[in-house]
Amino acid sequence: MFRKLKRGATKEVSNEVDKENLPKHIAIIMDGNGRWAVSRNLPRISGHKAGVEAVREVIRYSSDIGIQFLTLYAFSTENWNRPVSEVNGLMELLVLYLKKEIGELSRNNVKINVMGDISKLPKKAVLEIEKAVTSTSNNTGLTVNIALNYGSRSEILKAAKKLCQSVKSSSIDIKDIDENLFSQYLYTKNIPDPDILIRTSGEQRISNFLLWQIAYSELLFIEVYWPDFKSEHLMEAIIDFQSRQRRFGGL
Ligand code: FPP
Repeated sequence: MFRKLKRGATKEVSNEVDKENLPKHIAIIMDGNGRWAVSRNLPRISGHKAGVEAVREVIRYSSDIGIQFLTLYAFSTENWNRPVSEVNGLMELLVLYLKKEIGELSRNNVKINVMGDISKLPKKAVLEIEKAVTSTSNNTGLTVNIALNYGSRSEILKAAKKLCQSVKSSSIDIKDIDENLFSQYLYTKNIPDPDILIRTSGEQRISNFLLWQIAYSELLFIEVYWPDFKSEHLMEAIIDFQSRQRRFGGL
């Protein structure tokens, strides 16, 4: 078990969730850090700092109740358009987070995985990410996918190009290309599609996140800004998911 949550919420909360019907994969668009900070007359980076606390809490809760995959949209291909100081601040927060948390994550059997083109990230960040991925690679508990320099259209294009190359070199026949094979060319290969996609801050957009993978995901748009997102919100989201009837196009 992770350290007990400050408000002692974990035990009480997990009792209300049906453990037999847990979503395997939860994906989150962590939105609203900037507005959280501005509403408190704080610099935007304070919102991201507070956002890291929410990341910690959500990982602990997910791990404690037995979620298998948690995918967090931490930095999109479009986020490079932000002021350099904010981009650098976000990268520093990521490095600090990994340095500080990797021991506890490992002890709790959490596996860190990244999705996106991390080669464009600052060297320090790349090194810390690689360390985290390698040192947790044999863990078998919760897998946390951190989407970094991730964009879904570019992921799909990359997959299409790789497939074209395989066809050109005759290692794949066009008639063998189906949805399963295509999925194997995405960052999420071998990971089930998200059962739930949550976006915080009240915005109702997908913003180039997991466009292929969320074809049948249940969408949940939550009003609170990301730094205010607590394990209780995740619990409510899971209970909401458990009350929904998923038909995957059938009756
Ligand atoms: C969106 O809020 C949030 C981001 C672009 C960054 C998310 C990053 C973190 C929570 C911290 C680092 C992550 C990890 C995994 C340690 P926004 O800035 O777009 O908010 P706004 O729409 O209110 O301006």
